[in-house]
Amino acid sequence: MLRTRIVGTGQYLPPRILTNADLEKLTDTTDEWIQQRTGIKQRHVADPGVGSSDLGAEAAKRALANAGISPDQVELIICSTMTSDYLFPSAACLIQDKIGAKRAAAYDLNAACSGFVYAVTMADALIRSGVHKTILVVGADIMTNRLSWEKRDTAVLFGDGAGAAVLQGEEGERGVLSTYLGADGASYDLLYLPAGGSKHVICCENIDNLDLGIVMSGRELFKKAVAAFCDAAENVLRATGMTIDDVDLFVPHQANTRIIFSVAERLGLPREKIFVNIDRTANTVAATIPIALDDAVQQGRLKAGDRVLLVAFGAGLTWGSVMMRW
Ligand code: ACO
Repeated sequence: MLRTRIVGTGQYLPPRILTNADLEKLTDTTDEWIQQRTGIKQRHVADPGVGSSDLGAEAAKRALANAGISPDQVELIICSTMTSDYLFPSAACLIQDKIGAKRAAAYDLNAACSGFVYAVTMADALIRSGVHKTILVVGADIMTNRLSWEKRDTAVLFGDGAGAAVLQGEEGERGVLSTYLGADGASYDLLYLPAGGSKHVICCENIDNLDLGIVMSGRELFKKAVAAFCDAAENVLRATGMTIDDVDLFVPHQANTRIIFSVAERLGLPREKIFVNIDRTANTVAATIPIALDDAVQQGRLKAGDRVLLVAFGAGLTWGSVMMRW
């Protein structure tokens, strides 16, 4: 049976680090509050003039090198991002040029923090149906330049970064076993950026009247996130005939350790099976899961045959899960 397998991962975090202590100087917050409520200790911040495609291209080069695949072999690039360099063209096209993947088609996919799970689901369908053999999935986001530092509820949560995975079809037991996606557009206003899109264009005439910051209902999102994470995990487990005890490593979207541990408790997952790296990266939106997978590989926490559960939730609202045999 043909399955879609991740044959290489890579990540890139911009070098500049902003610690919680640094944030204390920018907004009314404390290291203790941030760590208690989110588990975050620091985040990486891209310099002005750097775009999401710059981070994504570096992560992609590392993923290709780790997979032993040349850019020429890539047939499609899907970049999950909600912070593309430009409104158009896509970050995926810019990445295609930067890595020299001349034969690849390229497009962006915006499912916010669920972007990587959405993109892997699309790539899996295209590979198993025989449309493409080798697909590069990139998650890349730069959120820190969208934050208003005085809005402390959102200022402390996000960081910049990119992760990438090379996916190929392979006969056998390893690879994606099942995927599950969901969305709730009626709740879009629990987390959104009002200005800068087609509805409220930023221009000289209206700049004084626009709210340029992110709007977030933190508590409501928290509850929805826990419910959606559990729903997504349970659905994909049911589809594969597995139980939570069959999971070797749980790699959740890194939004908040309180969300992650609440979900784990409800699902009955012991802490040693949960991968957490939010302390050093914060929430890098579509990049959290591929960065976490790459960390897990580098730390020797993933071995051939391990059953890995990816679960994500984000703006949209969107959520999803992937069950795979590594
Ligand atoms: N530093 C210090 N105090 C703060 C900060 C801050 N950064 N932010 C809020 N507070 C204060 C509030 O003003 C409030 O003070 P008050 O009691 O005097 O009114 C107090 O802390 C509690 O505020 P709440 O909003 O009720 O705090 P809560 O316990 O809900 O934690 C948080 C807030 C961390 C945002 C939480 O709601 C959360 O994690 N929500 C999910 C948000 C999220 O992850 N968004 C990312 C995208 S979605 C995703 O990726 C899943």
